[in-house]
Parts: sequence; structure tokens; C-alpha cells
Amino acid sequence: MADTLRSDWLTTGPKVKQFEREFAAYVGAPASLAVSSCTSALHLALLTFGVGPGDAVLTTPMTFCSGVNVIEHVGARPILVDVEPDTLNIDAARAEEALKKLSKEREGVRVKVLLPVHLYGHACDMEALLKLAEEYGLEVIEDAAHALPAKYKGRMIGTPIETSKGRVLSCYSFYAIKNLTTGEGGMLAGPPELVEDARIWGLHGMSRDAWKRYGAEGSWHYEVIRAGFKYNMMDLQAAIGLHQLKKLRGFHARRREIVRRYNEAFSPLAQFQTPVERPEVEHAWHLYVLRLNPDCFQLSRNQFIEELRARNIGTSVHFIPIHVHPYYRDKYAYKPEDFPVAYREYQRIVSLPLSPRMTDADVTDVIEAVYDIVARPHGGSRAA
Ligand SMILES: Cc1ncc(COP(=O)(O)O)c(C=O)c1O
Repeated sequence: MADTLRSDWLTTGPKVKQFEREFAAYVGAPASLAVSSCTSALHLALLTFGVGPGDAVLTTPMTFCSGVNVIEHVGARPILVDVEPDTLNIDAARAEEALKKLSKEREGVRVKVLLPVHLYGHACDMEALLKLAEEYGLEVIEDAAHALPAKYKGRMIGTPIETSKGRVLSCYSFYAIKNLTTGEGGMLAGPPELVEDARIWGLHGMSRDAWKRYGAEGSWHYEVIRAGFKYNMMDLQAAIGLHQLKKLRGFHARRREIVRRYNEAFSPLAQFQTPVERPEVEHAWHLYVLRLNPDCFQLSRNQFIEELRARNIGTSVHFIPIHVHPYYRDKYAYKPEDFPVAYREYQRIVSLPLSPRMTDADVTDVIEAVYDIVARPHGGSRAA
């Protein structure tokens, strides 16, 4: 970091190149492009696949808005598919139903991309989704904002699955609270020819990037071949990212340890449902999302959050489903029940504090606060 500040490069330069190389090697991706955020990576992925007006993108309502906003930015239509009750990831069976229905009913809409989100850091059912992509000729953009370092069937998210045709782009977030952070930042990973195309979109649509232009081997000449965007990462951010990458294993081990303690404490309580980790998945544990069992708990989710807040425990809700937000609700005339699983689960989820910086005492504080709430008369019974 200090050497970057002293060097001639503050913005995109050698540290970014090194970070791209080391990150790609870490996740097993053939190539990667460092960008300003996961949102810009998702936008670039759509541009690279040529998604535009008349196209549709299949994705999940259970996500952060940015992955759906960028579909709107390119003039395409998001088509939401309800989620699996256990993982809250896009349901491949429902995605297939939607694709069958669309191919029969709506000649005007061409579904071009499948955009699954590895929610909370739990990998989606990629085998089923990639099979669908192949069958229906779809490109795949995986939102891996939460999924570092997640594995599916022994492979890191980002490592190509041999059976797929390789048209998968993976988008990561290095936002402040993510498993690896550069303050703000993101990465796009995938096949080299696609990543190089995204690089052009991400730096003004110029045929040569600034590093090549201003570097020793570069020249002053460049051409604008598209009306691109400015999504490049700075060397300052990459310098942080390189350090974070070295610590990622340790961070992840600490997250797992905290999750183990939470699970041990909460799984005996009938009031809660603890998160799943399917056998074929290694969870990145970006978020720990507890679900309330309303039949065994007199408090609503919102009241539970307030009770935790009163005990100095900060929580959040990930996420308010896309179809409930006014922009999408009004534009597409969605009703809450259109995605019944997402809507039902939304009402009973709460994300507990989870960060590698938490001490054992911090974890104990969270557990004790939850037990204290449950033990009170309104909290319902203790028995499992
Ligand atoms: C699932 C998901 N996708 C994308 C993003 C966007 O990431 P960024 O803030 O790096 O643009 C987030 C941010 O929290 C997210 O949770």
C-alpha cells in the first residue's frame, strides 16, 4: 500500500494487473478484470453478452437491487423466478417452467441470460442451471458478490465447469463489508476473450487501456470503438486487495468458527431455523441469516430486530425482494404473492452480525441477547 502511494501509479497500473492475475489464480478463473464495483462487473457482463432492448434476463427476486438495475440500464427486461425454500437461491425447476412458458407464450421476448445469485455465499445449484443454459442457449452471469471463497462440488465459484460451454462470467464485490474488501471494488472473471471485451466496455470503449497507453511499451494513440463506461479499479484499491487476498483463508476460517457457534446455540431452539449448507457446497458465509419460526415465536421479525437493537446488537434484512420495491412493483405490476417463497421468507429473515473481526465475547453477546429475548414471556417456548 505504502509503495503504491510512493509510486508513479495511483490509478489503474501494475498493482491492478497483479491483483487480476492473483485473483484469477485464486478462484481458478482463466482471466479477470478488476473494476470499481460488483455492480459495474454485472453491467459489463451484460454489455459483453450483447444484452439490450428486446432481450430478457432470468434472475431472482431475492437479491440486492443492483443486479436487476443493470438489466434495466441495458434496456432489457428482468424476469424474476422464485427461490428454493432452503437456500433462497433461484430455483432451477421454476426457471425451467418459466423458460417453457416464455417460449410458448411470448414470442417477442428473447431470454438471453441466466443470472443466478449465490445468496449469502451459498452456491446455487449450478449443475441444473448450466444444463438449462445449454438447453435454452443462454449465457450465464453469476452474481458472486457474496461467494468468495465459496465452492460448488469441490470447485471454487469462478472455476469453469468442464461440462459447460464456458460462456459464464462471474462477478465479485469488494465492498467494505464483503469477505474481501478494497473499500469499493469488484472483479469480473471468465473466458479471456470475454474479459478482454469487457475491458474495452469498462474503459470508455477505448481500444487500448490507460496502462498500455501510458506505460513504457505504450503509445499515445487510441481509438474509441464503443460508447463505453469508466469502471476501472485504482492501484490503491488493488494494493489493499492483494493484502486481503492473502488473508482470505484466515478470514473465512474465522467466519466458519462464528457460524459454528451460532448454529450450535440456535439450532436447539424451536423459534429459529438456522441456515443450510448443502453437502455439495462449501459456504462462503458472507451472511448468517437466521429465520424465525412464526408458529413458535410470538415476536414478529421486526419486533425481534428491535429487541436485539435494544440489547445493542445491530442486524439487517437481506433482502427486501426486488418485486416489492416501488420501481419494479409499479413497472411490472408485481404483487407480493407473485413470488410466494421469496415473500414468505423475507418476512422471517434476519442477518446476525458476522465478521472475522468479532471476538469470542462479541459472539457470546449476540447469542446471549437472542436467548434473553426468547426467555421472556413474549418470546415463546424454549423447547425444540
Ligand atoms: C448480491 C449482491 N450483488 C451485487 C452487489 C453489488 O455490489 P457492489 O456494492 O460491489 O456494487 C451486492 C452488494 O451488496 C450484493 O449483495
